[in-house]
Amino acid sequence: MSDRLMEFTQTPFGKSLANLLGLPQPPRLNRAKAAWADRPLDGKFVTVGSGNGAALAKPLLETLAAAGAVVRIVPEHAGLAPVKQAAAELGIAVTGNPAAESGAPRSHALLFDASGIASAEQLRELYDFFQPLVRSLPSNGRVVVLSRAPDEIEEIGLKTAQTALRGFVRSLGKEIGKNGTTANLLEVADGGAEWLSAPLRFFLSEHSAYVTGQLLRVGKGPKGGEPQPLTGSLAGKVALVTGAARGIGASIAETLAREGATVIGMDHPSAEGGLGETMSRIGGHGLALDVTAPDAADRIAQEVVGKFGGLDIVVHNAGVTRDKMLRNMSPQQWDLVLNINLGAILRINEGLLKNGLKDGARIVCISSIGGIAGNAGQTNYGSTKAGVIGYAQALAATMAKRGGAINAVAPGFIETAMTAAMPLGPREVGRRINSLSQAGLPQDIAETVAFLASPAAGGVNGSTLRVCGQNWMGA
Ligand SMILES: NC(=O)c1ccc[n+]([C@@H]2O[C@H](COP(=O)([O-])OP(=O)(O)OC[C@H]3O[C@@H](n4cnc5c(N)ncnc54)[C@H](O)[C@@H]3O)[C@@H](O)[C@H]2O)c1
Repeated sequence: MSDRLMEFTQTPFGKSLANLLGLPQPPRLNRAKAAWADRPLDGKFVTVGSGNGAALAKPLLETLAAAGAVVRIVPEHAGLAPVKQAAAELGIAVTGNPAAESGAPRSHALLFDASGIASAEQLRELYDFFQPLVRSLPSNGRVVVLSRAPDEIEEIGLKTAQTALRGFVRSLGKEIGKNGTTANLLEVADGGAEWLSAPLRFFLSEHSAYVTGQLLRVGKGPKGGEPQPLTGSLAGKVALVTGAARGIGASIAETLAREGATVIGMDHPSAEGGLGETMSRIGGHGLALDVTAPDAADRIAQEVVGKFGGLDIVVHNAGVTRDKMLRNMSPQQWDLVLNINLGAILRINEGLLKNGLKDGARIVCISSIGGIAGNAGQTNYGSTKAGVIGYAQALAATMAKRGGAINAVAPGFIETAMTAAMPLGPREVGRRINSLSQAGLPQDIAETVAFLASPAAGGVNGSTLRVCGQNWMGA
């Protein structure tokens, strides 16, 4: 469904009228048009800074150089020494402060390694780096801050300062979103530095256009896992996507196929027609099966083990709503939503863990910001979507032991048949209450799912990533 306000405010007349009336002017987001590239930042300028005592300069610069970026460093800032040293060790050429060169192209991204900031006073280093530069960010630019994972820190000053970074990034995201620019935080746990490359590439690329104001924890990879490039990492993988006939599920199937995966799209038998169309478009295989069927896991295993040798990726996307205030909700409405959105996920995984999942398999479950913020009329739906977040945390260790991972994606307001059916007023509000003033597209969820489905995202396990344009609900 098209966003008429966005179309209108992009015209000269619409822009002037919007300025006059104080209407939101949603920026046009640059979304990926092709598969993951080897050098997504080719020729783009990226300005890098670092706090005192920071430890992540090396993986940071290595990733930027491999992605084709031209690295700029800000002279005479607190953490200049580790950045310069890492650049020298890696033989990476760096250039000076863009502000000093008149007419120089703007930097596409600002990256700051804040992993050494250990006190309230030292947070000033963050201000000193970003304050003069933030105004020069172009539209569709990127800000990424690197920190330590606060859950691993006991020292009071360090834990306080590292947690403070969350508030900084979330607030900055709200300031720069009107330009289509995003701000995200990568929290690096012990052993996570070597797994930084894929998350950094994702956040710096057009594949994360609708992800902003979020934090993602990167830890040590799974048992037997080796860091590998994101590009090409899904080639030859076998992926099951539930609810693949339409909407977000169809887009996930399409995106996984774009990255080279063989897709088995599953949907309810009543959606077999749509499923067939989607699968023939992407060269996938259809499986008409209700996720709540008691033998669903066995039927999936029967379908995939003989023909494809098992599953590398499972995406639990099928979901329904049956909204009613709790006082008016029937037990059938409660049971149906709980069964499809949550019970089926646990039962299918339990079965597939015994037979059907390959070692190293990665599972992605679709949650919702409704499970984080709650919604009147959605006690059933909100329970399932919050349950999915807990489930991903609970199963993470088991998956890591098998060399794999499980994560969740929490979409915000996404343009689908489900949201198109909403009345105009709530739909318009739903679209605008986020830092990018617009709804996401199914592609936005699909891009994040594909990233989390990749073995290159090996350091990400048990996490939930919101794809919501920094929706104000539950933020
Ligand atoms: N659209 C949004 O704004 C939004 C926001 C947050 C979360 N989500 C979640 O994203 C997922 C996809 O949502 P969507 O908007 O694409 O919905 P949709 O209704 O367009 O698609 C859901 C698909 O799931 C299938 N399905 C439903 N019950 C099934 C069952 N028992 N067995 C097999 N398949 C079944 C449907 O046939 C359909 O093809 C859902 O889990 C939803 O809760 C959507």
